[in-house]
Amino acid sequence: MRESRLCDLFSKSKKREEKFSLEAGDLTLDYSKNHLTTSTNKMLAQLARQADVPAAIEAMFAGEKINKTEDRSVLHVALRAKIADSVAHNTPGITEVWKVLTKMEAFVDDVHSGVIKGSTGKKLTDIVNIGIGGSDLGPVMVSKALRTYWKEGMRFHSVSNVDGTQLEDLTKELDAESTMFVICSKTFTTQETMTNAATARAWVADCLDEVAVQYHFVAASTNHEAMDDFGIRTDFRFGFWDWIGGRYSLWSAAGLSLALIVGMDVFKAVQSGGRRMDQHFCNAAMGENMPVLLALIGIWYNNFFGAGNQAILPYTHRLERFPAYLQQLQMESSGKSVRMDGKPVRCDTGMIIWGEAGNNAQHSFMQLLHQGTRFVPVDFILPASSDLATAHCRAQAEALMYGTTDDDLEPHCIHDGNRPSNMIHFDELTPEVLGQLIALYEHKVFVEGIIWGIDSFDQWGVELGKKLAQARLS
Ligand code: F6P
Repeated sequence: MRESRLCDLFSKSKKREEKFSLEAGDLTLDYSKNHLTTSTNKMLAQLARQADVPAAIEAMFAGEKINKTEDRSVLHVALRAKIADSVAHNTPGITEVWKVLTKMEAFVDDVHSGVIKGSTGKKLTDIVNIGIGGSDLGPVMVSKALRTYWKEGMRFHSVSNVDGTQLEDLTKELDAESTMFVICSKTFTTQETMTNAATARAWVADCLDEVAVQYHFVAASTNHEAMDDFGIRTDFRFGFWDWIGGRYSLWSAAGLSLALIVGMDVFKAVQSGGRRMDQHFCNAAMGENMPVLLALIGIWYNNFFGAGNQAILPYTHRLERFPAYLQQLQMESSGKSVRMDGKPVRCDTGMIIWGEAGNNAQHSFMQLLHQGTRFVPVDFILPASSDLATAHCRAQAEALMYGTTDDDLEPHCIHDGNRPSNMIHFDELTPEVLGQLIALYEHKVFVEGIIWGIDSFDQWGVELGKKLAQARLS
């Protein structure tokens, strides 16, 4: 297949686009512009079966401790489950999950209606998420994506880096009286987050007074003792559990800042989109399962074509932070070189993920994708809402595939083409659709990890740097 020409595959099969397209919920995956035939597909689906992907899916939804190195279940899917779903029954303490969501709903409503106010009686309109990694990227990405759903008068801000400049700039434009800080940290020990939280606390105490802290800080965390120490009052804290990984935590109380901006109805619609993809993932056969297929195509290029990286190009500015979100999801999950049985992996694992909103990409790095020497498979993500963006996106996919190789062209004008891409398209970027899109990639990453035999839910590789930084500071 490495020798195959994509345009030949198209000319051999007139209905190729139709044949190599798959629908799940509101998403359509057109994977026709890949080096695949029906028999490649069958063999890849066979690979998934051979690696026991169906059993692994069952194990995750059954609440088994599939995060072996941390001896934990992986149940972010339970956060978006309904009472009738089997995963809800397989989740210890599911009633606690629903209690927290109910508490979040009441809190969010009270902030919006003004029942919960700042210490001086002003309405709380500026929400600042303080967190990093999974405690930042999810709320930031989704709040940007759902900009049209923001409650009137509400504004979202975020602080993550530790050098202090984000908060310095932000506090210049904020009014402490109408600002609420959401400290989002699963562990409540992450140095960047704790440092920024302490600075924000000092700013509030300075602008208002020490008592104001309890009106202007809420927290989402699993660490109640640390929330006590910080002075977060019990009705302003929202718990979650160790069986939710940081990069999978958006659906939990870690999404509180987002819920405060868009309201709980919209937050729940994102969850219900995620659940819709879960249902497809659990029920569709390997060859017709969108997350499985996306994972297999990833593996095909990574392990059989030697592509070390993949570009994610959303053709809407609203998904500007989606590539960054996927970087953590995929690279923290799949950046592993040891298998779950402790042995070294014998093939490449996680690809380097990078990307940018499409038109910006065209005018910066697309040159390399079109005429460079490297092989970079692309995922285009395309809502149908802008004709112009659609035309550009489809043109890029075609240019990558067909290229231009006319005999009379100067060498520097030749585009070899034959460069593959997926296109994930949908009508409109609604909260439901966004939930489906996020869950699609979550499950894609999970399936890749199963096939490689790695633990996709730990992240020991980031610990060493944290320790060394600590040692330098002490
Ligand atoms: O250091 C990596 C990491 O542990 C991520 O996995 C996580 O999303 C991030 O740090 C933030 O952790 P916490 O939510 O505990 O502050």
